[in-house]
Amino acid sequence: MIQKVHVKVPATSANMGSGFDAVGIALTLYNEIIFEETPAGTGLTIEIKGLGQDTIPLDPKKNMVTEAMEMVAKRNGQALPPGHVTLINRIPPARGMGSSSAALVGGIMVGDALTGRNLKQEDVLVIASQLEGHPDNVAPATYGGLTSSIVLTDTALTNSIPVGNELSFITVSPEIEVSTEDARQALPDSIDYRSAVFNVSRVSFLLSSFFTKRYDRLQYSLQDKLHVPYRIKLIPAGQEVLDAAVAAGALGSTISGSGSTLIAFATEREREIEEAMIETFAAHGISSFGHILKADNTGAVYID
Ligand code: HSE
Repeated sequence: MIQKVHVKVPATSANMGSGFDAVGIALTLYNEIIFEETPAGTGLTIEIKGLGQDTIPLDPKKNMVTEAMEMVAKRNGQALPPGHVTLINRIPPARGMGSSSAALVGGIMVGDALTGRNLKQEDVLVIASQLEGHPDNVAPATYGGLTSSIVLTDTALTNSIPVGNELSFITVSPEIEVSTEDARQALPDSIDYRSAVFNVSRVSFLLSSFFTKRYDRLQYSLQDKLHVPYRIKLIPAGQEVLDAAVAAGALGSTISGSGSTLIAFATEREREIEEAMIETFAAHGISSFGHILKADNTGAVYID
């Protein structure tokens, strides 16, 4: 029988201010991966629809989706069938919105579906975390919701809580890219004890603010001393845009993942906040585009 597999994976925003490398949220913007088997001997071919057509490799040996598929097939002791892979990309690539996690999680799920369906959600999380190096994007991509994760010696654990529709997430992505590598290099080797305590209190307050739906307190929970002060300088006009979001009515704002996307949180005035952020970038000669999103509480799924 000709095999067809279709997977949909949400965008994610990692860190959430104070939860560096630990907290993340899944958002209602999706990449899709469609695998359709082709005749014997045709190998793997890739087609990209949507974002990243000029930058994402079409060579299956260099593409993150097909690399993850191959890796899982090998783990399952089988070869992938030949097939055509269509990537429908809506998550802005290389902007701190989880495009690489979506590629890894989606590729793992497609590869597993074609070679045995051996993996549980926990396995997808562990494999994807090991490939990505940190779990804060792959966890919400896999489980949906607001996730907090820990890494143990050879595994990772995640708790996910659902987030209601009353909270909106406004993401604004400038045309400039900030590589995760550069953003990690901008961080200091160590921080002082008081900064560590500051972040522990903020991130626990962040999670309890979500549990109790005290979104009015988000501005405090997003405060951070581990990465935002170092990374905001890599995004031209970044601090002004974060401030403009709050001035326009956002409950708080921060860097999404390692940037360059900035994210604001709101329960009203979403359109005005998005416009204020885009206009502030524009006032500094930087074009940007925005999305008004909700939390995705499902995570990556097989379709059909
Ligand atoms: N936690 C990672 C970082 C996420 O901030 O470097 C990368 O998107």
